[in-house]
Parts: sequence; structure tokens; C-alpha cells
Amino acid sequence: MKYVPVRLTTLKSQIPFTFDVYVKLPHKYLLYVRNGDDIESESKKRLKKKKVKKLYIEDSDEEAYQQYLDKCLESYMDDPNASVDDKASFGSGVAENASDDVYDKPQTEESYNKAKRASNTLVKMLSSNDEVLKTILSRAEQGEGTNLDKLKAHAVNSSSLAIRFGEYMGLGAKQLEELGTAALYHDIGYTETSEEGQKLFFQSIEGADVASLSAYKEHPRKGAEMLQDKPFADEVVLDLILTHEEKLQGGGFPQKLEKLTLMQEIHSLCCYYDRRITLLGATSDEVLEDIMVEQLGAYSLETMKKFKKFLQGLKAA
Ligand SMILES: [Fe+2]
Ligand SMILES: [Fe+2]
Repeated sequence: MKYVPVRLTTLKSQIPFTFDVYVKLPHKYLLYVRNGDDIESESKKRLKKKKVKKLYIEDSDEEAYQQYLDKCLESYMDDPNASVDDKASFGSGVAENASDDVYDKPQTEESYNKAKRASNTLVKMLSSNDEVLKTILSRAEQGEGTNLDKLKAHAVNSSSLAIRFGEYMGLGAKQLEELGTAALYHDIGYTETSEEGQKLFFQSIEGADVASLSAYKEHPRKGAEMLQDKPFADEVVLDLILTHEEKLQGGGFPQKLEKLTLMQEIHSLCCYYDRRITLLGATSDEVLEDIMVEQLGAYSLETMKKFKKFLQGLKAA
């Protein structure tokens, strides 16, 4: 039997499981909650206290787990008393699960569907709610660990940010889902980049040598290429992956586009902003300052002004 991890934050009390749930011990998996029972909020708290982040299901129960998540999502949507913390940890947990899959098995339909579902979950959890976004962006232990862990956290953050900012900018639900899906994948080209190019994901590219830089600058194209022959991948999502490092007036890469659509601009801006924070360690204020001064011309003035206002609202939330 093979076991797959599921994040504790995605399990909701009072929704009965349609599969068995296990805890991992040093040498075996132990049945923890039986099919038909639910997880009690007390035991959830206890596990959280013990720093248990993941429980396990049998891999043949993956689809049942996805349907269970849909039920949890509905229940959060129907519950006017659902707390900000609950919505944020459920949304980010589902997105983190998807982000793991996207990086582990980038070219599979299964990962793609998971990313789409996660994006849809985020669209619903974040709807008109800056507090949920704020809680997701400041969640504990994000990006601790390896560089790959950092990239996965960056994917979840960029996705959440792009969805909520996209909503703020007036985009519709389908566009928000596409933005969120693309953001989960946007840096997937990292896995196909040479070691010297990979280093530049985590440091300023200014002053980098030519070889590293040219390897790094191909990552959006490599990412899009990993999915482009897949019948399940949406055109819009592919385009957003390819253009996520583009800026106005030829200031970005790899195509040096002159103009961007609103969606491309929102995606690029949100990926840029979160890269500076999650991968390069800047503060939100520093990045905002930089965007308004150094990045002048990289994005339209209108979009930057709105982004500034949006971030101010987020800070006050
Ligand atoms: Fe990138
Ligand atoms: Fe990125």
C-alpha cells in the first residue's frame, strides 16, 4: 500500500471522512481516523501542538479526498461564522498540497487539476476578504527548509495575491482562477534550469555573470514548454507562465514584450512583489517603495497606484 500526505489544515471537523486517515510513525503508518468518522477539533489542536503538519491517506483514496475537500469548501462557504483563520489555513493548505504536486509531477494532468481546484478554493476563500489574504501571506513556517520549499511557498503566495488583487482590479471568476493556477506553476521552469541559473532565483540578478543570467532568463519559456503539448493545459495559463517576468517597454524577459494585457500585468506584478519578499527577504514597504520608484515604467502607472492602494488596505486589514 502507498500512502500520500494530506495537510492537517485541510481537514475539517464535522465532515465525515470517506477514507481512512493515518499518522506516520518512525517505522509505520498507524490508522488514526476510520472511514465514516470525522476529525475532532480537539485532536486537530493536539496534533497541531505536536507540530504534526501532515496526515496520510492511501493513494487509491486521492479522488475521495478531493471530493471531501469540495465538501469542506462548501461548508466554509455556507458558514457565516467561519473564522478568518480557518478560511486562511484551509485555503493555503489546499494550495500547498497542490504546490507540492506541481513541483513533484509538473507535467501530469492530476497535478494540473489539483492546481485548478486549489485556485478555485482560493478564489472562494479570498473573495472580498483582505484579512484572509493577510493571514495566508503571514502564515508561520512558510518557505522554511530547502530552496524548493521556498519556491513552493512563493507559488502559494503569488497565487493568493494575484487572485485577490485581480478581484480588486475587477477581473471575473474565470480569470481569477486562471491567474491563480498560473501563479502556482509560474516558476516551474526552475526544475529545468542549470544549477548556476537556479541560484539567481534566490538572489538579486544584478551583477550576475552572463552564463547564469541567460540560463535564468529562460525559465519562463522552459516552464511554459513543460505544459504546452498537454491537452489539459489552458492557453491563458500557458501564456501567463511564459510572460510572468515581462514588464512594459521591453524591460522584462524572455520576449521583451512592449505591452502587457491587464492579466499579464497583474500576474507579473504579483510574482515580482512576492519574489522580493519570499525569495529575497525584503519587507513589503521596501518592495512598494521600489515599485513606485525603481520600477517606474515597468508597469502602468494606473496599475501601480492601485496596487499601492490595495497593499495599504491589506496592511490595515
Ligand atoms: Fe520567475
Ligand atoms: Fe517567481
